[in-house]
Amino acid sequence: MSLLSARRRPLTALAVCAAALALAAPASAVPEPVAAPAAVLPYQDASLPVPDRVADLLSRMTLDDKLGQMTQIEKDALVPQTDLAAYRIGSVLSGGDSTVSPNNAQTWADTYDSLQRTALTTPLGIPMIYGIDAVHGHNAVRGATLFPHNIGLGATRDPALVQRIGRAVAEEVSGTGIDWDFAPCLCVARDDRWGRTYESYGETPELPSALTTFITGLQGDTLGAGPASVLATAKHYLGDGGTAGGVDQGDTRLSEADLRAVHLPPFREAVRHGVGAVMLSYSSWNGVRSHANKYLVTDVLKGELGFSGFVVSDWAAVDQLDGQSGFTGAEIATAVNAGVDMVMVPHDYRKFLTLLRGEVTAGRIPQSRIDDANRRILTKKFQLGLFEKPFTDRSYTATVGSAAHRELARQAVRASQVLLKNEGGVLPLPKSAKLFVAGKSADDIGNQSGGWTVGWQGRSGPVTDGTTVLQGIRAAVTDPSRVTYDRYGNGIDSSYRAAVAVVGETPYAEGRGDRPGGLGLDQEDLGTLARLKASGVPVVVVLVSGRPLDIADRLPDWRALLAAWLPGTEGAGVSDVLFGDHAPTGKLPVSWPRTSAQEPVNEGDGKDPLFPYGYGLTYSGAGPAPTPAPGACTARLRTTSSWQGGYQAEVTVENTGSAALTGWAVDWDLDGSRVTSLWNGALSTADGRATVRNAAFNGSLPPGGTTSFGFTADGTAGTPGLHCAGG
Ligand code: GLC
Repeated sequence: MSLLSARRRPLTALAVCAAALALAAPASAVPEPVAAPAAVLPYQDASLPVPDRVADLLSRMTLDDKLGQMTQIEKDALVPQTDLAAYRIGSVLSGGDSTVSPNNAQTWADTYDSLQRTALTTPLGIPMIYGIDAVHGHNAVRGATLFPHNIGLGATRDPALVQRIGRAVAEEVSGTGIDWDFAPCLCVARDDRWGRTYESYGETPELPSALTTFITGLQGDTLGAGPASVLATAKHYLGDGGTAGGVDQGDTRLSEADLRAVHLPPFREAVRHGVGAVMLSYSSWNGVRSHANKYLVTDVLKGELGFSGFVVSDWAAVDQLDGQSGFTGAEIATAVNAGVDMVMVPHDYRKFLTLLRGEVTAGRIPQSRIDDANRRILTKKFQLGLFEKPFTDRSYTATVGSAAHRELARQAVRASQVLLKNEGGVLPLPKSAKLFVAGKSADDIGNQSGGWTVGWQGRSGPVTDGTTVLQGIRAAVTDPSRVTYDRYGNGIDSSYRAAVAVVGETPYAEGRGDRPGGLGLDQEDLGTLARLKASGVPVVVVLVSGRPLDIADRLPDWRALLAAWLPGTEGAGVSDVLFGDHAPTGKLPVSWPRTSAQEPVNEGDGKDPLFPYGYGLTYSGAGPAPTPAPGACTARLRTTSSWQGGYQAEVTVENTGSAALTGWAVDWDLDGSRVTSLWNGALSTADGRATVRNAAFNGSLPPGGTTSFGFTADGTAGTPGLHCAGG
């Protein structure tokens, strides 16, 4: 049993002192722990304010200690493991394909604790922080609960649900020891040909902004204040979803006003939620790589938005800055001076540290920048409680894949389903009906989970434990023997009440999912659908995909179309809707193009999509929308930035009445200026006045509750008399 407990228990002063002695000298010289508690150094004293602990620790650190804290290494690149201490490395990650064997929660926790024990053998005993992409559950771990990918969560329009999901993910991640999640992606997907569209909550700034509640779910109301608090990461800053042609890691060509209006609001909201880390985007803005953009990273993110956490680079993104493979001292200096605090190297840490040290000693990276980066990183480590509780809290390990989390995921799957067509009310299906089920994704947990699933790209097949759509159907019906399944539709005849075709995309991630050539169904699906159509049986299509697909020309052959997105492990959430146990409530988080040639197509761009942003049907008889109750509200405007000829403002709406609001409207005299863009609300103008009504997701306000919308306008910022009416 090591001196340092294997559980995440508070390390007493005595234990810390004894541990420091034990680790600094051979075991034979270690004295018996002294009876009286020894004095600890200020940075080890949890009763002191974090800034004081940071200052004390910083004063004790060598340059190598500081450079090591700015270094993040892939677990599998750490050979030998003792290099973690020898090079003072402050962070480890598991990239998309990094795993443990056997792949289960226990092994992940043991691996984490082993690495942490090594990290704590350094003279100052600074704990390492371990990051991973838990982007739709703890998806690296076989058996973990996998929730719908973000595009499906965007369809729920439910910030509270997303926060609960964040909490569940935090528990499963904590149960494996890991303390940092590279999530949420706050990308605003503007072109669905982009391979990461499914990682986006939606095409407008309002949805990612509203669903930053995931951050609170992960971190808690205050980072480290409660158990199972996991550091969240707002990514990828800035404009990753706005590149020309939807090319991953491409160039976002926008004016500053439009970049601010479309892509910045979710990060502003993330900072408001206290997000602890921000990851930069591989992409560029008007030809300048985000990782080299000091204006965006230091002036806007850290300055204007007041982000006080730390900025991490993306995987080997620094290597891209000079257009050559590998990284150089110049690239490292460019990125660190732009505002990168921690570099995800992720492999050659010896070369990286040599070059980084060279840039500092040559004066090309000022010591003040190194100290600022360390202050930011160490502040988060102290706030997370890593110095007091450096090891896995094994009480959370059993939450991985737990029934409670799976039930939450099933609820999220139900809420994410978007019904796009229901001719003749073919849905909901009767549970007594004789049904035919077909399609490559009907019985495939890998397809329904998508990318970032037990591997970076994910894959088809039984990749993890869960319930397929077909299994959900069979569990829901009265007599499972009346459900026939054939992947290709062979054997169907007119005796069936309906045919359910579960088709769409096979897993992919990042650039490998870019589809510049079109978004059509693949040949297998088209063949299956043709067989079903030929039978004359009503066809219900369930589309399992990471984005809208080109289906307009096939739609007339289908009686119903349900967008299921990438539901994850709980496929029964789809059948809950197919059989009407839950009426569909999802709304499109992205516009659905008539063909991919229409891309990019987004709300308010004047194009005519097949289905507009916010579209979604429900079952007739599912009950009327709630009638708004009378209420009072106030609106307060704050100018958040201004530039030559224009400004940006944020308006906070507060329910000052005693009854809950189900909607609100704010109006003001434009006084000659023009609103050039708006998010988190719906704008109308008439007779020189602007009126902003709530968006679908932020209309409900409890008494005392607040929400906000933002806009950019030309002219100079003023203090218009805002009038708020509650409904
Ligand atoms: C990837 C992704 C990023 C992820 C990182 C670590 O390339 O761009 O979203 O967090 O590398 O896996």
